[in-house]
Amino acid sequence: MAAQSPLSALLALLTSSVQTLESAYAKQGLSYPSLDAPFAPSPLDTDAELNNIARLAVASAAQIIATIRGPLETIQETSTGAYGAAALSLIVDTHVANIIKEAGDDDQGVHISEIAAKAQVPADSLGRLLRYLSTRHIFREVKPDTFANNRVSSTLIKKHTLDEIKAKPTIEYEGSTAAAFVGHTTDEGLQGAAAISSWVKSLHKNYATPFNVGNHVDTDIFHWFETQEYRARRFHIAATGSATDRFPPTIFTGGYDWASLPKDSIVVDVGASMGSVTLTLIKEFPHLKYILQDLEKVVKYDAPKYWEAQMPSALTDGRVTFQAIDFFEAQPVKNAAVYFMRAIIHDWPDEKAKQIMKVVRDAAGPNSKLVVFDAIMPYACEYTGPFAEAVAPIKAPYPLLANLGLGLGGFVTLVDIQMLNLLNGKERTVGEFIELGKQSGWKLESVKPGMMASIVYSAA
Ligand SMILES: C[S@@+](CC[C@H](N)C(=O)[O-])C[C@H]1O[C@@H](n2cnc3c(N)ncnc32)[C@H](O)[C@@H]1O
Repeated sequence: MAAQSPLSALLALLTSSVQTLESAYAKQGLSYPSLDAPFAPSPLDTDAELNNIARLAVASAAQIIATIRGPLETIQETSTGAYGAAALSLIVDTHVANIIKEAGDDDQGVHISEIAAKAQVPADSLGRLLRYLSTRHIFREVKPDTFANNRVSSTLIKKHTLDEIKAKPTIEYEGSTAAAFVGHTTDEGLQGAAAISSWVKSLHKNYATPFNVGNHVDTDIFHWFETQEYRARRFHIAATGSATDRFPPTIFTGGYDWASLPKDSIVVDVGASMGSVTLTLIKEFPHLKYILQDLEKVVKYDAPKYWEAQMPSALTDGRVTFQAIDFFEAQPVKNAAVYFMRAIIHDWPDEKAKQIMKVVRDAAGPNSKLVVFDAIMPYACEYTGPFAEAVAPIKAPYPLLANLGLGLGGFVTLVDIQMLNLLNGKERTVGEFIELGKQSGWKLESVKPGMMASIVYSAA
């Protein structure tokens, strides 16, 4: 039998993935969610097995497009990607998704003249940017110049109404993690992105990061946030969302054998931000005591407020406490059962990442564990070295890229470049995690693969 052509193999993969997804929904008496309807959360969204099937479908569809579309069109679409970021930036700043929702009908949509009047911007440019997004399946143009929310754009609807936000601007992003993510990545993030090429060509001289060049800032982004109340609040809400909305909670609850820890064991969430990972853990493991550490401003104001809203009982019964720290100064909690860090090590270049892990090692006891939740950088080609199964959590069938392209590697590589931009940080390979451990007194014990891996170290 003649070997299947790459395109036919991709189409077969796409067909079988779609059939599996549709039948899983049908078993629950549901249809697969329509792109035209607003997003409504379903327990199937975070089903790990279905997520993997969806990744295969996305990887196949994206590779079909890359194969069939003319190369120049792919280059043009990519080199003008900033327009998508710019469009989203405007949409979120001017609350367009809320304006459409509050004006009423999901199917009829709202005319651009009405949207633009409420957004207080010119209708012509706003309408063209909305059409750019609608053409890429973010919003719908239901009649000429008339736009409605769809499954994708509806995630940008801020939880509070326009009137509530107007009355109290500090609540703009509360509970609105996708909008906060767009705000952060298309404001200070986009300024930095525009400087990546010149920063790399300058051999990293003069400035620590592209973010520093593009935003004319001298300190690291986290210390800059201490002077930027609005952006800091938005960033921490975005970080909360990427922990809780983006990943199945089993990444954290199953990332270590938390149940085996004796009652009242101390677990330290190092660089906790609001502590959304701890919130996931404490619901399943209430027998542990959690200490949330971050820079002073974060643990004094925003994090306690978040817990008062989410789980006040954890504050009153002392299962959750807060502590101001600096990663680069002595760790105040000695001999904890577990120190964990989510999305911390990837923020920093090797020297600093090593220091952060060494500071924790100096405070750790002989049985303490360090659990790092970070993505493992998946090569786009096959990899057969140590912990290969963690590098490619889903075996890619022919002819998909080994990292599933846009199905998985797309997300990890975008976070990698975001880290390069903002902090000269990086998503690391398993080899790099082993090496960081070696240089900071930790031995890599196990790696649990996933979209975000759980990397467990014990004291060397
Ligand atoms: C990317 S966020 C990750 C937050 C959190 N672990 C999560 O998963 O949502 C990085 C956190 O590190 C904190 N941070 C940055 N520099 C720090 C330092 N020198 N000392 C302590 N915390 C710091 C920031 O304030 C921020 O909350």
